[in-house]
Amino acid sequence: MTRIIYRAHDGTDFERDVEDGASVMRGALDSDVPGIAAECGGSAACATCQVMLDEAWVGKVPEADDLEGSMLDEEDEAAHVRLSCQIVVGPELDGLIVHIPSTQH
Ligand code: FES
Repeated sequence: MTRIIYRAHDGTDFERDVEDGASVMRGALDSDVPGIAAECGGSAACATCQVMLDEAWVGKVPEADDLEGSMLDEEDEAAHVRLSCQIVVGPELDGLIVHIPSTQH
């Protein structure tokens, strides 16, 4: 298990222990963290599982692959937006902080 901190738009933290090998999205859905819709179920096709990496974690999370990158525009990349279904949890991400946007679109 790895500790992931989901920070809501209003600053509320939801700290969760997520199974290694699961996605950041799955960890949120399975433990009632609000604000992640994940309409496509994790296949990088809907972009309703967006999170912003905390500044402290930029460069420490493996970069988006081509599939994920195709769902993000330059503005997203500048804001360190990622699809949480494409971030795989593991010990190297212990303490990861992701910010949940006020709305998913
Ligand atoms: Fe659809 Fe992540 S759940 S893109």
